[in-house]
Amino acid sequence: MEQRANFGSKLGIILASAGSAVGLGNVWRFPTEVGANGGAVFILIYIICVLVLGIPLMVAEFVVGRHTHRNTADAYRQLAPRSGWILQGYLGVFTAWFILCYYGVVAGWTLKYLVDALLGRVAAITDSAAYFTTFSSHPWMPIAYMVAVMLMCHFVIVRGVQNGIERYSKLMMPLLLLIIALLVVFSFSMPGSREGMRFLLRPDFSKVSPDVFLSAMGQAFFSLSIAMGCLCTYASYFTDDARLVKTAGSVALIDTTVAIMSGFIIFPAVFSVQGGTPDAGPGLVFITLPTVFQMAFDTVPWLGWFFSVLFYLLLLLAALTSMMSIHEPSTAFLLEHFSLRRHTATCIVTLSAIAVGVLCSLSFGPLADVRPLFGMTFFDFFDFISAKLFLPVGGIIISLFVGWKLPRELVHDEITNHGHLRFRFFALYRFVLRWVAPLAIGLVFLNELGLFK
Ligand code: PHE
Repeated sequence: MEQRANFGSKLGIILASAGSAVGLGNVWRFPTEVGANGGAVFILIYIICVLVLGIPLMVAEFVVGRHTHRNTADAYRQLAPRSGWILQGYLGVFTAWFILCYYGVVAGWTLKYLVDALLGRVAAITDSAAYFTTFSSHPWMPIAYMVAVMLMCHFVIVRGVQNGIERYSKLMMPLLLLIIALLVVFSFSMPGSREGMRFLLRPDFSKVSPDVFLSAMGQAFFSLSIAMGCLCTYASYFTDDARLVKTAGSVALIDTTVAIMSGFIIFPAVFSVQGGTPDAGPGLVFITLPTVFQMAFDTVPWLGWFFSVLFYLLLLLAALTSMMSIHEPSTAFLLEHFSLRRHTATCIVTLSAIAVGVLCSLSFGPLADVRPLFGMTFFDFFDFISAKLFLPVGGIIISLFVGWKLPRELVHDEITNHGHLRFRFFALYRFVLRWVAPLAIGLVFLNELGLFK
């Protein structure tokens, strides 16, 4: 049998997994949530959620993937043959593919803005809201950009694990971290940025409500790429000496740092614009920020150009490394389950995602009024069903699976690399997976469905 692919180094493992975690969720969704949930308190609660729930669940997925060294669907089949748990494997594969379909649309927008920034067009936008709407509702332009981004992702995935995912993660992630650092400096240098800093750093405890907790938890899961088959698939390429807990900790640290730094980039900049509001929603990065860059253009033109290019490059890099990780679960499944060539499997996934992506993209234009699925547009439907429905359900199943179904020794062996490492919190870890995580995620789920509204 052909030897199965794996990552070549520990650094590659961490950077690829961090590439999955750091995505639009950090740069776009996190600041939006912080804005809507009262600033620093949200950040505090978010960090607690990452520590108490995020890291244990990441490790749980790593255990399943690394122990079996198989694609997600077959991993569950191997661990629990002929049982209902197998469905979780398929759920992971599907969830990842669903997310790929609509994530590619937004990634396409970031490419469009990067091109515009490079050409100096961001400076010339007079009404940034109208500009964004005109573009996103255009019948074919956003589709062209979506296809371009999907193809970029395709060309990485088709090269395989070491030559594709690992090599490009090692290239893109350090670049991304460097850009983030530069942008923080830029944002601090904007006039009036102190108000934004204050908003981020001073906790306002009057804002604490159950809703804030639930939003923080939902954001943590999305941001850490939990329950989407990605971590499990990547972990199936981990070498036997990889340290699961340490890897999860490093990835969580990088992911949270990037999210908070994105807040530091966006809020000082937003507050420096007259009338800038922190909770402007997704429009934050495509509508509010272009205005900020224009201000910089007006004072020092090349600086405005430089930083707008850096910002949209950052978004694109973040989106691409995440897309790679949502492409791989279904590719690995097709490749192994049906013994296809990597090239064929990758083509099937890319083409099918583009086909559905076209529908999602058109949701902002010609198909805006077409709501065939539960009164939602295609884009909203795919977002809803994956991020709001499958994600929490998958999270609950994974914690129950690793907490209750898998033999204690198996989990312990994976976490300690067969006794080579010490892990003092194992009992606590199992308790979290058995009780805390399923209950907490259950609450998030009911909240997403609007039961507490
Ligand atoms: N974690 C990524 C982000 O923050 C999104 C993502 C979701 C990546 C699902 C992989 C799987 O944007």
